[in-house]
Amino acid sequence: MASSLGFEFLTKKPYSPPSWASHLHPLPSHFFSLAHLPTPIHRWNLPNLPTNTELWIKRDDLSGMQLSGNKVRKLEFLMADAIAQGADSIITIGGIQSNHCRATAVAAKYLNLDCFLILRTSDLLVDQDPGLTGNLLVERMVGAHVHLISKQEYAKIGSVTLTNVLKEKLIKEGRRPYVIPVGGSNSLGTWGYIEAVREIEQQIQKGTGNVKFDDIVVACGSGGTIAGLSLGSSLSALKARVHAFSVCDDPDYFHNFAQGLLDGLKAGVSSRDIVHIQNAKGLGYAMNTSEELNFVKEVAATTGVVLDPVYSGKAAYAMLKDMSENPKKWERRKILFIHTGGLLGLYDKVDQLASFVGNWQRMDVNESVPRQDGIGKMF
Ligand SMILES: Cc1ncc(COP(=O)(O)O)c(C=O)c1O
Repeated sequence: MASSLGFEFLTKKPYSPPSWASHLHPLPSHFFSLAHLPTPIHRWNLPNLPTNTELWIKRDDLSGMQLSGNKVRKLEFLMADAIAQGADSIITIGGIQSNHCRATAVAAKYLNLDCFLILRTSDLLVDQDPGLTGNLLVERMVGAHVHLISKQEYAKIGSVTLTNVLKEKLIKEGRRPYVIPVGGSNSLGTWGYIEAVREIEQQIQKGTGNVKFDDIVVACGSGGTIAGLSLGSSLSALKARVHAFSVCDDPDYFHNFAQGLLDGLKAGVSSRDIVHIQNAKGLGYAMNTSEELNFVKEVAATTGVVLDPVYSGKAAYAMLKDMSENPKKWERRKILFIHTGGLLGLYDKVDQLASFVGNWQRMDVNESVPRQDGIGKMF
């Protein structure tokens, strides 16, 4: 594992927590630099914000390319643990377009580990080749072993048992698998966003504008990101209020889940005191209304920021809705929205998006345009 060639991310490094988090247990001992950090923070001029509200965006979608988004921050710690435990393979689980599974497949390959993915799909499609759309293309190109499971089976058996079944099978075959739970959300993975808070603090200190964020807004899918952000924000000097918009289960479920992660770190805090969770599920997980997709398209067209439709797209949509319904809550606040990535998931929505994206035409080259220069040249 050479660092002299600049492949520093392949070197496991000792981890020192921020001073304000050094009382948490367990403290991770090592991590890998898998993400391109720090991710940029810039102003995000969405229209129709409440009076004097300042909106900023942290671009965790830019934490990498095929290995990108919020999941890579968790994987820095989880992969180091896998290597420390002598694993030769990784098992993880998620939806058919799981960004977490794609990021894990890439990180595993960087570290020369085999990757086994259990992907949840519809009962109708479970016996078919899943195709190469979006995240699947990357997963299959890096050689992940894809095991499909139907939504019905997943709901009956549960993700923990499913990963254990595959783990037992691999152990019998002489392998040493390491299991990463849904979304990389366990207490160790939570360190990814505790560490991200240190990064935000450092960016604020270095910034020229002296911006102090009052609020952090983020999507919530499996719960690890909000646990890390809210714990970090409450322990550090940041003290921004964390607002989570959940895209699948309801707020009570996520408070209980986040509490488990916080207790696992012996944080001694209550999830309900440190994070405010609102429902942004809409039609259901990974399902979009045409208003949401139109919003994602309009945000791209007005600000250049391409949101994913499943997580940050829904969270930003719900945030703006809340701002218009409760403007007093957001007026005069400095808000940091975390874009958690997931752009590859957009490819799964191209048919639905097509009706909003009409800007094309055949180029007009009428008879008066001279033609002799281009004769015979295609390039
Ligand atoms: C792109 C993206 N954003 C946000 C989330 C939510 O993060 P978490 O699972 O930590 O709640 C996920 C995964 O669930 C994701 O893939």
